[in-house]
Amino acid sequence: MSDNFHIPVLSHEAVELLINNDLKKKTYVDGTLGAGGYTRLICENTNDSDKVIAIDKDLNAISFAEKDLEFCANKLTILHGNFGEVKKLLIEIGINSISGIVLDLGLSSFQLEHEEGFSYMRDTQLDMRASKEETLTATDVINEYDAKSLEKLFEEYGDLGKARRLVTAIIAARRKKIIETTFELVEVVENEYKLGRKNRMDFLSKIFQALRIEVNSEMKNLANVLEQSLELTESGGRIVVVSYHSLEDRMVKNFFRDHYYKKQKDDEAGKFLNILTKKPAIPGLQEIKSNRRSRSAKLRAAQII
Ligand SMILES: C[S@@+](CC[C@H](N)C(=O)[O-])C[C@H]1O[C@@H](n2cnc3c(N)ncnc32)[C@H](O)[C@@H]1O
Repeated sequence: MSDNFHIPVLSHEAVELLINNDLKKKTYVDGTLGAGGYTRLICENTNDSDKVIAIDKDLNAISFAEKDLEFCANKLTILHGNFGEVKKLLIEIGINSISGIVLDLGLSSFQLEHEEGFSYMRDTQLDMRASKEETLTATDVINEYDAKSLEKLFEEYGDLGKARRLVTAIIAARRKKIIETTFELVEVVENEYKLGRKNRMDFLSKIFQALRIEVNSEMKNLANVLEQSLELTESGGRIVVVSYHSLEDRMVKNFFRDHYYKKQKDDEAGKFLNILTKKPAIPGLQEIKSNRRSRSAKLRAAQII
């Protein structure tokens, strides 16, 4: 696999937690195929009679990973779609129960480095759609959202504290000319704030993160996939999530807690979880050294009772 497309993060830890060898005839879902790093490991650690389903909403990722996963063709099905609709995608291919699902959230290095709008370090169209089938772009958000919605978005998704000053600057700039490229947005920010090198990186990363979460409905998709995974996964099966920012991690942590069996009343109906990672697993120093993108990763896993 080419290291340029994406170096997998916490992949051995995630796949080890995903696979429960006590289960017979297993069906595993990798909801975020990317460059295929996790799927490859799942393929290598399951039997020929098991099934592996891998999903990605980015066709570039699928055509890249497909080539690398030919060895697994007998048990692997790759689906183009949104993991927020995992139940529908699986039912369409006749699957209504799975033995576990793994999600490695966010973007691949390829998307960050080659697709439009994700990075403030390259001058491209302000697009940010991980799937070109979606219609909303970051240009639409920046130029069409009203001040209140922009403020809420930057404060909630960018963790920027008070965002009124930033939004006022954006609105003044877009009145003169539509903001269409990453560098045009960077210029608006830099005209308003005098930022040192470290602060500049941090501030721009948060602004771009907030836009990306909005454009790709990341929080809504995560909420949906967690609910549907609980429904789909058989007893003994696992839900494993690697996240890269605190909003995602908090959503996963709260979801696991809300369904934690020790918190349920005796007569409560539904499926419950046992939490396998009391504290999230994080990459070791060696992994962080060799792959800086891994530094914010947090892995949480739970097993269906
Ligand atoms: C961090 S990468 C996964 C890398 C993969 N684990 C590997 O080892 O190569 C995340 C991938 O998830 C995909 N993705 C993000 N949100 C998605 C969604 N809602 N539905 C399907 N795929 C999604 C992205 O397109 C990207 O390819």
